[in-house]
Amino acid sequence: MSKPYYITTAIDYTNAAPHIGHAYEKVLADVMARYQRLKGNEVYFLTGVDQHGQKVQKKAAEVGQEPQAFVDDITKHFTALWTKLGVHYDGWAATTAEPHKKVVQAILTKLHDKGQLYKASRHGHYSVRQEQFLTDKERREDGTFGEEWGEVIELEEANWYFKLNEHVEWLKAFIRSHPDFIFPAFRANDVINALEGSGGIDLCISRPKERLTWGIPLPFDPDFVNYVWFDALVNYISFAGYLADEVGNTGLPEFKKLWPANAHVIGKDILSPPHAIYWPTMLHAMGFSDDEIPQLIVHGWWNLRGGKISKSLGNVIDPNVLADTFMPDGLRFYLMKDIATGYDADFSDERIMIAYDKDLAKGLGNLLNRTLKMANNYRSGVVKIGGYDDEVCASLRTVTAEAEAAYPTKMDSWAIHQGIEEAWKIVTAANGFIEQTQPFKLAKDETQAARLDAVLHHLAEAIAHVTVLLNPIMPTMCAKIREQLGWTLPEGFKLSDLKWGLLPDGHQLGQGTPLFPRVEIAAEA
Ligand code: ME8
Ligand code: MG
Repeated sequence: MSKPYYITTAIDYTNAAPHIGHAYEKVLADVMARYQRLKGNEVYFLTGVDQHGQKVQKKAAEVGQEPQAFVDDITKHFTALWTKLGVHYDGWAATTAEPHKKVVQAILTKLHDKGQLYKASRHGHYSVRQEQFLTDKERREDGTFGEEWGEVIELEEANWYFKLNEHVEWLKAFIRSHPDFIFPAFRANDVINALEGSGGIDLCISRPKERLTWGIPLPFDPDFVNYVWFDALVNYISFAGYLADEVGNTGLPEFKKLWPANAHVIGKDILSPPHAIYWPTMLHAMGFSDDEIPQLIVHGWWNLRGGKISKSLGNVIDPNVLADTFMPDGLRFYLMKDIATGYDADFSDERIMIAYDKDLAKGLGNLLNRTLKMANNYRSGVVKIGGYDDEVCASLRTVTAEAEAAYPTKMDSWAIHQGIEEAWKIVTAANGFIEQTQPFKLAKDETQAARLDAVLHHLAEAIAHVTVLLNPIMPTMCAKIREQLGWTLPEGFKLSDLKWGLLPDGHQLGQGTPLFPRVEIAAEA
């Protein structure tokens, strides 16, 4: 049996509620997981939450909670949102779970035994917010450190270091010889630049217990806990069953069956250094071969009026509210349509409204309603096939076939917005087909009966095709549309089975009820 397609997403920090960027990333991965399943591939989709670290410890203390209780509460907001948005994952990576901690400790022990870790004292500037020492590279021209670092203190501290620099030459060569390692490819330059300017400091992988207790203890030095990024990155293998036998973990996937991941879906801010520098060098030091380095799918950011969406700016957009307003699938549709994977986009109330109203309600919704209404009025909803054909009908079939041929090439390259465009070529052509053929006029003319049958059949069949192509993006709505068509995806149906002729002769269509109710948005206060 072939390997499952293994997709992971960044594990979300649990010191804040989920925002639109989190929702986007999860939907992106979920769409790809559903798309791969539609192609007939087995998929394992892992996501989760990143629960350790200084920020969590600090936030929990501020609200007077134990860190574990604090992260458990916040985690519920994430899992509830994934349920609401129809994000179906196979594995849940919460980094405070025992099996994960055991794997992190086993890895630390192995690296220690191999001589890959050493203890050293360092004096320098330290960003409390980013939990890291800063170098001259981070200084602005006037010598100060930027606002993004928050409070910067001078610190002298002994810590454990990972000999990252031993692997830098390997990493550079690896990146140059593996253009697929980072998607989109242009981001690999950022990584090469970061490597050139890294200043030869190894990766600090510990924090002294006296200032951070909320982490995984180093097995060989009880005075320290593990740096949160080291612990977090390991989730991709610990929850995939790495070292399961050795540490006694059960109920996890078989590691050999999953690894390497086909896609670590992450945002551009955490490409370099964590995912493109720390992670591959960690894997390399652990003994993973070049063929066992996962592929990084790096998406861009949703901004707001060109600026960053951030809690401190008070402009966090609540995905829960958007999902309640536009339905979960309306939000999924907008998040997939209005951004090109790898690039940034601007979130806009107006554009989500347009996507919902123009594309979903007036485009797809009306097409379905008009088709079902006419089919039920003129033919009691019964589809009749084969009595008539002409160029207009042939042209709708051609548009459908061409869109279906193009769709996988777009989706395979993560151009989901273009996959949607292909599906929409069918929607637009089918709406135009109604204008062209005027079935309401044909219905008044007995001599046009066979033509009317063909027109209604072509419309219903075209809509059925659209529900297959859009299924990864709007699974709930597509199932509802199929229900109205009186059609279900046959068991084991694959994208490659998508050919004209989904609806059989004599097929009984269902009744149409509007699926996209009008949305009124209150004017901004
Ligand atoms: O980075 N638009 O967690 P996180 C798009 N715990 N994506 C966005 C975004 C935006 N406006 N804001 C954030 C962390 N993201 C770590 C990850 S992985 C081993 C550890 C994305 O909650 C961000 O790029 O800050 C990241 O991929 C994900 O949301 C989680 O961000
Ligand atoms: Mg972040």
